[in-house]
Amino acid sequence: MKRLRMAMVGGGPGAFIGPVHRIAAELDREIELVAGVFSADPARSRAGGLAYGLNPARAYGSLAEMLAAERARPDGAQFVAVVTPNHDHLPSARAALAAGFPVISDKPMTAALAEARELAQAVQATGLPFALTYTYSGYPLVREARARIAAGALGTVRKVVVEYPQGWLAGPAQGKQAEWRVDPARAGAGGCIGDIGVHAFQLAEFVTGLRVIELLADLGAVVPGRQLDDDCSVLLRFENGARGVLLASQIEVGELNGLRIRVYGEKGGLVWKQEEPNTLMLHHLDGRSEVIRAGTSLLGPDAARRTRTPGGHPEGYLEAFANLYRDFAEVLRGGEAPLLPGVAEGLRSMAFIDTAVRASATRAGWTQLTV
Ligand SMILES: NC(=O)c1ccc[n+]([C@@H]2O[C@H](COP(=O)([O-])OP(=O)(O)OC[C@H]3O[C@@H](n4cnc5c(N)ncnc54)[C@H](O)[C@@H]3O)[C@@H](O)[C@H]2O)c1
Repeated sequence: MKRLRMAMVGGGPGAFIGPVHRIAAELDREIELVAGVFSADPARSRAGGLAYGLNPARAYGSLAEMLAAERARPDGAQFVAVVTPNHDHLPSARAALAAGFPVISDKPMTAALAEARELAQAVQATGLPFALTYTYSGYPLVREARARIAAGALGTVRKVVVEYPQGWLAGPAQGKQAEWRVDPARAGAGGCIGDIGVHAFQLAEFVTGLRVIELLADLGAVVPGRQLDDDCSVLLRFENGARGVLLASQIEVGELNGLRIRVYGEKGGLVWKQEEPNTLMLHHLDGRSEVIRAGTSLLGPDAARRTRTPGGHPEGYLEAFANLYRDFAEVLRGGEAPLLPGVAEGLRSMAFIDTAVRASATRAGWTQLTV
C-alpha cells in the first residue's frame, strides 16, 4: 500500500504535540510526513524540517507558500495536520481546506465557538475529510468501554464522574507550552477548561454515547494574576437524565495526567484510568468485578484491532494517537471510521467550553448546552 503524504502546520523545535503527531502518523507505515511549516518563524521552520529529516525545500516559511508548492508537486502532500496553538486552528485549517487538502487538527477545534461554526461551514462547503485528535477516544479500552455500554453492560447509565487533574500550572506559567495556554489571545476564552476539561467532556460523551444537555459550572483562576481558569468544577446533566461530575484542574500539585472516567448504570459500573490505560474495570451489581485487559481475547472487535502487541506489553499515548491516524487514513482511502472525532464532536466541545465559561462568569446556575 502506498503511504499517504502528510504536511504539518506547527510542531517546530521544542513543540510538544507536533512530534507526537509525526510518530503516531508514521507508526503503522500508512502515512509519511513530507512537508511542513513548523513555525511562524521561517528559520525555525527550516530547523524543524531538518530535525524531521525532510527535504529542506519542503520546510516552508509560510502556510500559503506550502499549500501552493505542495499542490503543484506530483508527489505533493495529500492532507494537512494542524498542530499549532488554538488561535491558529481556524486560519490554518480554513486555508488548507480552501486549497483542497483534507485536514486533521488537534483539539480544541478552534479558539472560539463562532470560529468553530465557520470552520464547520468550510468543511461542509468543500466536502473534504476533517478530523480532530481527541486522543483518548483512540485508546483500545476506551473503545471497549464504549462498546460494552452500547451493548447494555451497565443497563441505563445513571451517573458519570470524569476527572482530569494536572499540577503543572500550579505556579507561574513558564515555558513554551505554558505561555500560550494562559493567554486568552492564543488559547481562547477557556484555560484549563479548553485545554483538558474539553478532553474530559469528549470522553464522557464518547464512552456513554449520551449527550450533555445542561451544565452548572464553577471555573476559577487560582494562581494570582492569571487571566484564564486553571481549576474547574462542572456538574452535568445528560440527555437520558443521568447526572455527571466533571473536574479539571491544572493546579493540583503532584498530579501528572490523571484522566479517569467512572460510569455507573443500573446493572454495574465501569472505570478507566489514563495512567493505567490497558485495564478496564467492570463491576457487577452482585459484587463480582471483572478486569478486562488489552491484548487479551476479552476485547471486542474494534478494541482488538486497536492493539498492536500481546497482553502485558504496554501500549499507551502514542499508539492511541496512531489509532486516530489509522482511522483518518481509512477515510482518506475512501473507507469509513465512524468513531473518529470530527466536526460534530468539535462543535459540541466548543459549545461546552463556551457555555461553561459564560455560565461560570455570570454565576448563571444550570445552563443549557446547545450546539
Ligand atoms: N490531543 C492532545 O492530547 C493534545 C496534547 C497537547 C496539545 N494539544 C493541542 O495541540 C496544539 C499545540 O499544543 P502544543 O502543546 O504542542 O503547543 P507548543 O507550543 O508546544 O507547539 C506549538 C507549535 O506551533 C508552532 N506555531 C505557532 N504558530 C504557528 C504558525 N502560525 N505557523 C506554523 N507554526 C506555528 C510553534 O512554533 C510551535 O512549534 C494545541 O491546540 C493544543 O490544545 C493536544
